[in-house]
Amino acid sequence: MDEPRFSTIIEPFRIHSVEPLRMTTRAERREYLRAASFNLFQLRAEHVLIDLLTDSGTGAMSRDQWAALQHGDESYAGSPSFYLFADAVRELFPFRHVIPVHQGRAAEKILFTALGGPGKVVPNNTHFDTTRANVEATGALAVDLVVAEGRDPASDHPFKGNMDLAALEQLLTTSGDDVPCVFVTITNNSGGGQPVSLENLRGVRALCDRFGKLLFLDACRFAENAWFIREREEGQGDREVADIVREVASLADGMTMSAKKDPMGNIGGWLAMNDDRLAEECRNMLILTEGFPTYGGLAGRDLEALAQGLKEVVQHDYLRYRIRSTAYLGEALQKRGIPVLSPFGGHAVYLDARALADHLDPLEYPGQSVAVALYEIGGIRSCEIGTVMFGRQPDGSEVPAAMDLVRLAIPRRTYTQSHVDYVIEVCEQVAARAHELPAYRIVEEPRMLRHFTARFEPVTG
Ligand code: F0G
Repeated sequence: MDEPRFSTIIEPFRIHSVEPLRMTTRAERREYLRAASFNLFQLRAEHVLIDLLTDSGTGAMSRDQWAALQHGDESYAGSPSFYLFADAVRELFPFRHVIPVHQGRAAEKILFTALGGPGKVVPNNTHFDTTRANVEATGALAVDLVVAEGRDPASDHPFKGNMDLAALEQLLTTSGDDVPCVFVTITNNSGGGQPVSLENLRGVRALCDRFGKLLFLDACRFAENAWFIREREEGQGDREVADIVREVASLADGMTMSAKKDPMGNIGGWLAMNDDRLAEECRNMLILTEGFPTYGGLAGRDLEALAQGLKEVVQHDYLRYRIRSTAYLGEALQKRGIPVLSPFGGHAVYLDARALADHLDPLEYPGQSVAVALYEIGGIRSCEIGTVMFGRQPDGSEVPAAMDLVRLAIPRRTYTQSHVDYVIEVCEQVAARAHELPAYRIVEEPRMLRHFTARFEPVTG
């Protein structure tokens, strides 16, 4: 019998426990903005209506994850929760060593302490901000080698997260001795949540083999990346996502991971690799900074919740809904003539703030200006991914970032379609008056990762 087909892709879950949203007035929000020095990271979350700051650790856990918490075994050493967790990781990423950490940046800190150092060069398609900071903190250089299409907001290339293989080959030819490992971030968060193809990963693997380099994945959004491979890459359409993930893993020598993304955790991460000597060095560091190797920075109950989350995230019904609901937001904005990065990412839609507020110079922070307006007008918290985040150079100078984006990140399984319809309306109102948005200047900033704590003020008159 023919299976009836419907065009509405529904949330493949129903609501089991609810959290109230908190309403505020525009006048109150102006006050909160001033108190936060126009930095959305400095707002109190109860003053935010729809929080699209990040998809990291902000998703809803499932009934089965909450149940799994009760199985947590809090033994200091050898907890069964660790073995369950490590097996769930290896089911998808069959690396010999799995080292739990409290979140992704802890894995980065440990790995780059082992591999980085002055004079070293780490290539990546695009380093996420904490990854770049952890590379640079060792004195090493972080180099972004994404394909040219990945820097063009208007390109509709299906795999805009791909590594520029020619540029990587050139780097390995000229400075190969200084490169301790090659990184690929899936999906490419800082470049718009764009996927990397299997073919491109095979190309990176071939170069790493030729030059004798380790290949590491920054795999936060591996399931979304695999879904895009299934949808967009020739010959992949009939495969199980879990199977694609295993092939991706088979091309790498290790990974850093934030389990606050696709593994559906509110906290967690891991570092995994095949190399025994490197793993021993990393475990020794782990004991100094995180904890004993069978719990890392986590409680046993967290490990249980992540093991369950890893099973849920590769389910096709979930991924179909996830990718479709993100595209729903992107398409609606596009239909209203609002410039957005396309194709849409898996976890977020990115407004092209440089195009939207094109009366502002990148060094006047158009992304910050749009993000502040979205909060003032509609209580929506988004995240600038542009010159504020990436413009400051290690020598203290400032240059425009490749793009000035505002990320509307979608927490997993958290907001409904009417929440998203409201977000669309708010974006429409902000876009209608984008040319009136003020420039911003930074009045105080830290030396690194300035976007978290910098103080801003609008430039008036
Ligand atoms: N790598 C990527 C690609 C990320 O997106 C993140 C975090 C990390 C590493 C670090 O992981 O937060 O667990 O320490 N991204 C979040 C975001 C914070 O909002 O995109 P973490």
